[in-house]
Amino acid sequence: MSEAPAPARGRSIHNGHDRPAAGPRRLRVGEAWNPRNHVTLFPGDCRRLLAALPAGSVQLAVTSPPYNLGKAYERRVRLQEYLDREREVIGACIEKLRPGGSICWQVGNHVDVGEVFPLDILLYPFFAERGLRLRNRIIWHFEHGLHCSRRFSGRYETILWFTKDTEDGEYTFELDPVRVPQKYPGKRHFKGPKRGLPSAHPLGKNPGDLWIIPNVKHNHPEKTVHPCQFPIELVERLVLALTRPGDLVLDPYMGVGSALVAAALHRRRAAGAETEAHYVAVARGRIEAVRRGTLRMRPRTRPVFVPPPDTKMTRRPW
Ligand SMILES: C[S@@+](CC[C@H](N)C(=O)[O-])C[C@H]1O[C@@H](n2cnc3c(N)ncnc32)[C@H](O)[C@@H]1O
Repeated sequence: MSEAPAPARGRSIHNGHDRPAAGPRRLRVGEAWNPRNHVTLFPGDCRRLLAALPAGSVQLAVTSPPYNLGKAYERRVRLQEYLDREREVIGACIEKLRPGGSICWQVGNHVDVGEVFPLDILLYPFFAERGLRLRNRIIWHFEHGLHCSRRFSGRYETILWFTKDTEDGEYTFELDPVRVPQKYPGKRHFKGPKRGLPSAHPLGKNPGDLWIIPNVKHNHPEKTVHPCQFPIELVERLVLALTRPGDLVLDPYMGVGSALVAAALHRRRAAGAETEAHYVAVARGRIEAVRRGTLRMRPRTRPVFVPPPDTKMTRRPW
């Protein structure tokens, strides 16, 4: 873990206020697992990719699995059958994790005849039974989604962040690259030997465990054909905090490859699996855009949009 109070002189710190310089870069991309690939886009069932990965090769497994809701890309099955399959995939991911590595499972609710089943509660035992430690249960809050009529509309999902510790109880956590601006950076110590000196951390504050990041809907610059893709910013924060350059990031349910994009942007290696060929094709295109330095992304410091009050859309028509 590192929570250094100030950056070492001359060290380049990427502290959440900008993105890596865009520009072409060399990226070796393949479909089958090969440790020499920078990016592996496996077109098929994640269990087959997982079987090919060496034990202890993955620094971060980060994903959002299907929620068993019967979306276009999944077959709805009995809840127990779904949980059994998730347990198998989670177990395989943990086996491939390196000591000191992390696993982040981003989930919402399974819903059956209006009854809500929070997936993080149901999946938690599959990590704990294998000795992983929960470090944060991050709330991801967003504004847009379905409007419910018989319960309150869902406006958050969670990320369970677990670590597989080393024998000394250590794990990778780099806070500096993901610090965010303070509300009062000019604050000063008001007593003691540091009285009058600035008290805020020069790189910003810990982002906390409530993340307000817009979900990817129609006007979002990252929108693709996928109905529920990660905003790059969400997974980028995990990549920057929980891995180092050269580490391997795995997304077993990669969709259109947002986690792999975040990894490639920050010079991590990445591997993902996806059963739908058209999503794999989109993921390939996005990785190609990273390679060329032309990927469309929402700027990381852009505040959440608040519409101006007196426009055609915000004026009440009745
Ligand atoms: C919630 S989406 C993930 C979206 C992803 N986070 C992104 O940013 O695009 C889950 C994805 O898992 C895929 N999927 C479902 N079962 C799978 C399996 N057994 N192996 C690999 N992918 C699978 C689905 O087609 C879907 O695209």
